[in-house]
Amino acid sequence: MSQTNTDPTSTRQSDPFVMVVFGASGDLTRRKLMPAIFQLWCENHLPESAAIIGYSRTAKTDEEFRADLCDSIRDSLSCHEGLIDDAAWETFASRIYYQQGAYDSPDDFAALRQRIEVISAERDIPGNCLHYLATPPMAFESIIRNLDCAQLARRGQTDPWARVVIEKPFGTDLDSARKLNQIAREVFDEEQIFRIDHYLGKETVQNIMVLRMANSIFEHLWRHDYIDHVQITAAESLGVGTRGGYYDTSGALRDMVQNHLMHLLCLVAMEPPVSLTADAIRDEKVKVLRALRPIPAQCAANGVVRAQYSGGQIDGQNEPGYRQAENVPPDSTTETFVAFKAHVDNWRWTGVPFYLRTGKCLPRRCTEISIHFEDIPKVLFNRPPAGPLRPNVLTIRVQPNEGIALEFQTKAPGQAMHIQPLEMDFGYQESFGQAPPDAYQRLLLDAAVGDATLFTRSDEVEAAWEFVSPIIEGCSNTPPEAMLQYPAGTWGPKEAEELIEADGNKWRLK
Ligand code: BG6
Repeated sequence: MSQTNTDPTSTRQSDPFVMVVFGASGDLTRRKLMPAIFQLWCENHLPESAAIIGYSRTAKTDEEFRADLCDSIRDSLSCHEGLIDDAAWETFASRIYYQQGAYDSPDDFAALRQRIEVISAERDIPGNCLHYLATPPMAFESIIRNLDCAQLARRGQTDPWARVVIEKPFGTDLDSARKLNQIAREVFDEEQIFRIDHYLGKETVQNIMVLRMANSIFEHLWRHDYIDHVQITAAESLGVGTRGGYYDTSGALRDMVQNHLMHLLCLVAMEPPVSLTADAIRDEKVKVLRALRPIPAQCAANGVVRAQYSGGQIDGQNEPGYRQAENVPPDSTTETFVAFKAHVDNWRWTGVPFYLRTGKCLPRRCTEISIHFEDIPKVLFNRPPAGPLRPNVLTIRVQPNEGIALEFQTKAPGQAMHIQPLEMDFGYQESFGQAPPDAYQRLLLDAAVGDATLFTRSDEVEAAWEFVSPIIEGCSNTPPEAMLQYPAGTWGPKEAEELIEADGNKWRLK
């Protein structure tokens, strides 16, 4: 069973394997996957004999594929670290191949299998295969079934192994997620299936468990007796850009809440697992999802704030409204912003509201979790003239400027008892001298070494849909004219403020 590696002296390297990337001509492969794999190669996490086969419908030679990738890897890495190492690129590029094929053609998969065998023999790879599904979701079923037909799924075998990484979105509602799980599990064992959510690969997200469970000062206070409420905000400053066609079938609830925000919520609210095995950790996350108080479809339209950005300005640049974006219908009712209050109805969290919010075209890109502790008694300093004092807040900055800050009260120097809030702040950049690595690097290596901790298990994905699907259903009949709007560059509609202010609280980020 896979287990989180806590040995700081170990260098993680996988067994030799062939990685097949389905959707090789796509944006995800160029912008995220290949730059991450190249970084892993440069940092010696990949075995000398590793090989990568890009698979997609477009006709291309190995050389053309390598040249395309070289350009996108340069683009992607140059914004972080300057030029890429040409010698490292040359040795890495010689391990990259391209195979043209359709996703629904058993013959093409038979040809892929032959190619894998030839490359494995040449490179002395014992037959291990990591299949990465980076295609649009409608191709998932065909690929999974054809991997089976071509005997590339190797169910029940561990030597050589086969694993499949499935990108999001994993279904569009509970029924489709169940169906996809069923198809995947007809072909693969659960241990072979890696449902990826890149938020779990973010360094700050992994740090949530460490912060809570490696520090007694936090975990003892991590409960309803001491915490007043929790806020989770994932704000993006970009609009949908050229992704309008996809986004309009999705919306913020499917695109961000069902996956990324639910994972953040689970990590904040889960009980300490009995061990660091992937299943022990995921068991606890599932329990949180099961304890979420349902928001029934008939309550969703009133309890959940959904809105769309209209034209506005971000950083001095004009941003057209969502309904004017490419491939978005002018009467679209898809939300680009959502805010709601969740309750985890269990012993630890009873009565503690979790306010969640995400949106596009907000004033800045910023994802953070803030834990708002209970007010202190209204005696001594916490009453006039010094008080009322601000309660302590612990903020986990997921991105950017990754770090953790604790706000507390101090006496400002001077003759008077003047009390002032201050922050103790830890930033990754200052403390570790570098920004955290890209999430895909971590997740790709985990999949290659078989550690499923940071991947979503089938029951977890279904439990998250069980919570989100009724909300989507309840909001599905909003007439176009009733859809709330917020100007691009603002923090969403006033209804999102009212949601939290009704409880006497305020959004921390504004
Ligand atoms: C993706 C969504 O999963 O996450 C995008 O499909 C969103 O719409 C992105 O922009 C946000 O990721 P990050 O890492 O930039 O916060």
